[in-house]
Amino acid sequence: MEDLKEIIQWYVDAGVDEICGEDPLSVISPAQSVASANLRPATTLLAQESNAACINAREICQKAQTLDDLRAMVESFEGCSLRFSANSTVFGYGNPQAEVMIIGEAPGADEDRIGEPFVGRSGHLLDKMLQAIGLRRDDCYITNVLPWRPPGNRTPTDGEVAVCLPFLQRQIELIKPKIIFLLGGSAANALLNNAESISRLRGHFLDYASANGEIIPALASFHPAYLLRSPLQKAKAWADLLRLQRKLEEL
Ligand code: URA
Repeated sequence: MEDLKEIIQWYVDAGVDEICGEDPLSVISPAQSVASANLRPATTLLAQESNAACINAREICQKAQTLDDLRAMVESFEGCSLRFSANSTVFGYGNPQAEVMIIGEAPGADEDRIGEPFVGRSGHLLDKMLQAIGLRRDDCYITNVLPWRPPGNRTPTDGEVAVCLPFLQRQIELIKPKIIFLLGGSAANALLNNAESISRLRGHFLDYASANGEIIPALASFHPAYLLRSPLQKAKAWADLLRLQRKLEEL
């Protein structure tokens, strides 16, 4: 019994805190294999499957004409294995006509339970940050790079980000925000298509280029979860919030 406890604790410490079932799951649906003819032969099977899932995601989400269409597509998409360990698909929340779109990394445990982005400790801090510059959560549109929680809140892999990115890009096209506020390195790297650290990316407006050629000013800043762990960085986050407020006043 003690051995069993130790083994379970070992898994929990390693970030494995969800049990999907006894049997291994195939995460690729038959529909996704149709794109495999376009793949390079040197890629591994896993890379091919993830490549096929990306192509599939890009194709299907272009058909979404409304946020409701897109939500339904994300909910039925099976090309990302995270959906099988998550309890909820956490789609965007807020005002679909918002001027500000806020993008985080991925749902945590509270978001996965409730099905809404930024409702846990990070979300409470985000609400206070927004209030400090006169914004309410409901004035904005809030979403994440990934709609599913990575087990144990681990950092998403590049493959998971690549598969889910088309859904986020389509959300941006449908919302048409005037400003994008990126919280943390994962969101900044995914949307600005680079690998710079958040310390270098934050603090100034950069261009987000949407698939339809539109340029939207994007400001990156520290993730609220990081600010909870590193409160000394709040001064820099406050400076970023003031930049966001000034930009909004200029609109
Ligand atoms: N962290 C995120 O990046 N997103 C959430 O929704 C919650 C925590």
